[in-house]
Amino acid sequence: MRPPVAATCSAVVGLQWGDEGKGKAVDLLAPQHDAVARYNGGANAGHSVVVNGQRFSLHLIPSGILYPGKRAVIGNGVVVDPWKLVEEIDGLNAKGVDTSGLVLSDRAHVVMPYHKVEDAVREDLLSRGATDAVSGGAIGTTRRGIGPAYAEKIQRAGAIRMRDLLDPVVLQERVRVALELKASMLEQWGRDKSEADRAALEAPALIAQATAIGKRLAPMMTDTTRALHDILDRGGRSLFESANGTLLDVDHGTFPFVTGSSCVVAGVGTGAGVPPTRLGRVLGIMKAYSTRVGAGPLPTELKDPTGDRIRERGREYGTTTGRPRRVGWLDLVAVRYSAMINGTTGICMTLLDVLAGFDKLQVCTEYQIGGERTGHFIPDAAALASAKPVYTTLEGFGQEISSARSLAELPTAARAYIDFVAERVGVPVEIVSVGPGREQTIFG
Ligand code: GDP
Ligand code: IMO
Ligand code: MG
Repeated sequence: MRPPVAATCSAVVGLQWGDEGKGKAVDLLAPQHDAVARYNGGANAGHSVVVNGQRFSLHLIPSGILYPGKRAVIGNGVVVDPWKLVEEIDGLNAKGVDTSGLVLSDRAHVVMPYHKVEDAVREDLLSRGATDAVSGGAIGTTRRGIGPAYAEKIQRAGAIRMRDLLDPVVLQERVRVALELKASMLEQWGRDKSEADRAALEAPALIAQATAIGKRLAPMMTDTTRALHDILDRGGRSLFESANGTLLDVDHGTFPFVTGSSCVVAGVGTGAGVPPTRLGRVLGIMKAYSTRVGAGPLPTELKDPTGDRIRERGREYGTTTGRPRRVGWLDLVAVRYSAMINGTTGICMTLLDVLAGFDKLQVCTEYQIGGERTGHFIPDAAALASAKPVYTTLEGFGQEISSARSLAELPTAARAYIDFVAERVGVPVEIVSVGPGREQTIFG
């Protein structure tokens, strides 16, 4: 019998609605790990890392790739748009980044061009005539085919995995089945097909393109679960990089305004094949305020000059789609819930520098729903829509803090803000980020 294993892995998870700064946090933790693995999501993610003033935007490739020689893993739980992946690899190589450490699960599901058509068709249909962005209306997806690709995985028929791209017989059959199902559905929905849509639904062309891209990616395809366990068995450590955020998780987020995958730490088990007993550290990443891209409830949303000021100072425009992010005060009801769901052992608070210059800072500590007050989050869009934030007002800090490198260099009010979060969430704040750069970091 094997002796019990010491937990040697860490995870970085988003505690809000995505874009919390997971890329930067992974970049900080990667040197202490032998491998960095993505386990969920797809090219809907956009993780920015700034190294020596140079900005890298990663979508499918783990942020750890920026360390030469690091094993970077795209796990089976990721839905991979192979054309986007090749574009990303080429883009990194052009910037001088060595991507030779990258491996890709041969069981990861493929986002095919028709998944993106379907994503767009669904979104257009949902937005047509919708009066209410809570119970109906478009989700505001990234239109990267994420939902349709995960749906196909669960439905199974016609679903294509990376390894299928290497087998002409299997590929042909899968594409045939998928197109038969898609074509009738799109026709029924009255899609006025564009040139690009038609190409996405043309079997011979699709098979040729998919075969070619499969050949290009074949050297990277492997059983990544085995590869990760080999590293762990040799005493190595792995870092898991979540995409999206806990409140976008398909089970635990503000359904139906969520993404299609398990963004929470539990997704590591299914999306990478590494069991929860291996995880010793779960670093929850949270912004010092709230943002959200796309539709769905954001209880503390600021649709006023304060919100505009935070958006501009924080450069809150999507890494993937360029959309302006919706902005609001920090919602600790939401963060406390996310910390609980993920078994968060420590917090990394990012973008605290953005809040400099406000006289007062509002932090939501409870919701008012009807006549009742509650400190519990409600992971359901319709139920959450009626929640009104109850704020605690904290002192603001006037001076810029982006050059601070220790807690002692922060103004008293900034330290009080951090302490308030740690106390209310019940989890220590281990890292404070005061700017996008690697060096703009305070370890608590
Ligand atoms: P992710 O999806 O969670 O990796 O986050 P994104 O990269 O999409 O969005 C976070 C943005 O904030 C990026 O542009 C980062 O470069 C930037 N960023 C990260 N930490 C800080 C910080 O502490 N201060 C400021 N001003 N920007 C930060
Ligand atoms: P990172 O990893 C922010 C949002 C979309 C939309 C919803 C569903 O950079 O934090 P999808 O295309 O996944 O079907 O869209 O989820 N969304 C994100 N928002 N950051 C992300 O990733 C996101 N990934 C998906 O805006 O509201
Ligand atoms: Mg992002």
